[in-house]
Amino acid sequence: MKKYVQKNVSDINLEDYTGEYEGKDALAKDLIFTGGRKYESLNGLWHYAVDQYETAIRQHWFEERTEMNGISLPVDFSFDEWPTMQLPCSWNMQDRMYYLYESSMVFTRRFSFKKGENERVFLRVGAANYILRVFLNKQYVGMHRGGSTPMVFEITDLLEEKNRIMLVCDATRRPEQVPTENTDWFNYGGVYRDIQIFRVPKTFIKDLKISLAPGKTMDRIRASVELSDKSSLRAVLSIPELNHEAAIEVKDGKGSVDFRYPGLRLWSPEDPKLYDVSVSIPGDKVSDTVGFRKVEVVGRDILLNGKPVFLRGISCHEDSFVNGKAVSEEECIQAINDAKELGCNFMRLAHYPHTEKMAKLADKMGMLLWEEIPVYWAIRFRRPATYRDAENQLLELITRDYNRASVIIWSVGNENADSDERLSFMRRLADTAHRTDKTRLVSAACLVSMQKLAIADRLAAHIDVIGLNEYYGWYAPDFTQLPKLFENSNPDKPVVISEFGADALYGHRGSRSDKGTEDCMADVYEKQIATLRTIPYIKGISPWILYDFRCPRRASVIQQYFNRKGLIDAERKHKKLGFFLMQEFYRELKEQAE
Ligand code: GCU
Repeated sequence: MKKYVQKNVSDINLEDYTGEYEGKDALAKDLIFTGGRKYESLNGLWHYAVDQYETAIRQHWFEERTEMNGISLPVDFSFDEWPTMQLPCSWNMQDRMYYLYESSMVFTRRFSFKKGENERVFLRVGAANYILRVFLNKQYVGMHRGGSTPMVFEITDLLEEKNRIMLVCDATRRPEQVPTENTDWFNYGGVYRDIQIFRVPKTFIKDLKISLAPGKTMDRIRASVELSDKSSLRAVLSIPELNHEAAIEVKDGKGSVDFRYPGLRLWSPEDPKLYDVSVSIPGDKVSDTVGFRKVEVVGRDILLNGKPVFLRGISCHEDSFVNGKAVSEEECIQAINDAKELGCNFMRLAHYPHTEKMAKLADKMGMLLWEEIPVYWAIRFRRPATYRDAENQLLELITRDYNRASVIIWSVGNENADSDERLSFMRRLADTAHRTDKTRLVSAACLVSMQKLAIADRLAAHIDVIGLNEYYGWYAPDFTQLPKLFENSNPDKPVVISEFGADALYGHRGSRSDKGTEDCMADVYEKQIATLRTIPYIKGISPWILYDFRCPRRASVIQQYFNRKGLIDAERKHKKLGFFLMQEFYRELKEQAE
């Protein structure tokens, strides 16, 4: 990283003011396993300032240069006199003034820290949208790109007894980012998931992956440990309920071993059995609560624990009427319960990684999940740095949720036109997901090939489950095309209808052809269900969407800047007619399966 040039003149002629911050990206490889670890929370009141021109990083506010050679300097910041905001949060929801604000905000606070002996210290931020730059005690620590995945920075050597931390969060949408500047959801800004400090020993357990071992058997567990250095030692895996401890020989920092557990109770949505597991090494111990299950594709079937399963699903954004993207645990529980009331065993968490709370709750409550990275619409598929950003978000997601039994599908994107560049870009992502995680399926929400009126996306050859978004009855008004689409298609693997739907303002009634009425939505759902239920290779459906959600692109009188395709309204109070049609269909499917 370039040494800072002491700037005696202001930055008014400096163009590449971000260049000096490059080269210190927090990446997936920097994440550390936190299960069962104690931490110190930095959640709470932070002083903040709106920083529209990114002056904080142009002028190095973090250096707190208030004097030079004993002479005071004019400064443009007053850290401890600034107002305060409770972090984590979406700033858009804190004050009407910030509702549409999409540039930078500076957050800072002081905290005390009692350094221990022989320890390393890491800062973990659950997510910040979109670029976060971190400063501690007048030093630049590093940055993270990506609006929905965790980041970890080592701060061991920068800590004092009394500290000042500064976070500069930039929510600007850009064409080269992932997603680009154009999406169909609200661009909430902020540091909106937990901010925590972890102390670990010099040699610690950096990652723990535990699941059923890949392959045909369903009573073999594989535990893989990665250390923070190349040490060789013996780790001990313990699963008390199975009365078993097993040694994992770690060599040059890595170790993995399979154990047979006859009588292992497998996890499923109907029986979400979880086991407490822990792994210890001299000086360190981590733990997790995990379910063991196998998901695979055989021909056109999706199998869960060796039995064909139909994914009775619903799509879901991470969007709260009150909290924006900083959804609360209660709101996560509510979403899963509403999906269960609909009759779901499956939720498509669109279009980016949701809070890790969702997968942990789905493990406990029994819900299968599709998790996705925001390779959404017209990504800059030719741009290598854009690919690196997308792949890093995918690897951060897989690293974060690897041990979550509920997650069965990694989706590498949504609705991208089938071009050569896009195929190369997304095939690489699919290959990365397959290489990194052999215990899950890979998919993507593909588009219908309109010229062939068929399922003909070339990406289908590189994924395990074909997601298909189709809006017959809504954007494609001619419903007769839908059965033709399936007649013209002959996929050799399972298809999940990852989206269909229609807008309806709750309480707005009219004829079945009146767009925007509940009656019209019900008509679309009736006709969709009537066709989809007849197609043998459709093995899952996740209609768009559980709740109405904020969307700047939706300005009609019934939308009022909300996408109204929710089966339930945005305030999560009212179910629309379509909800009950889907609920009836899923009830029938569930009965047939039993
Ligand atoms: C698309 C897209 C969604 C969008 C939806 C809609 O399929 O995947 O993100 O919200 O259609 O138009 O409502």
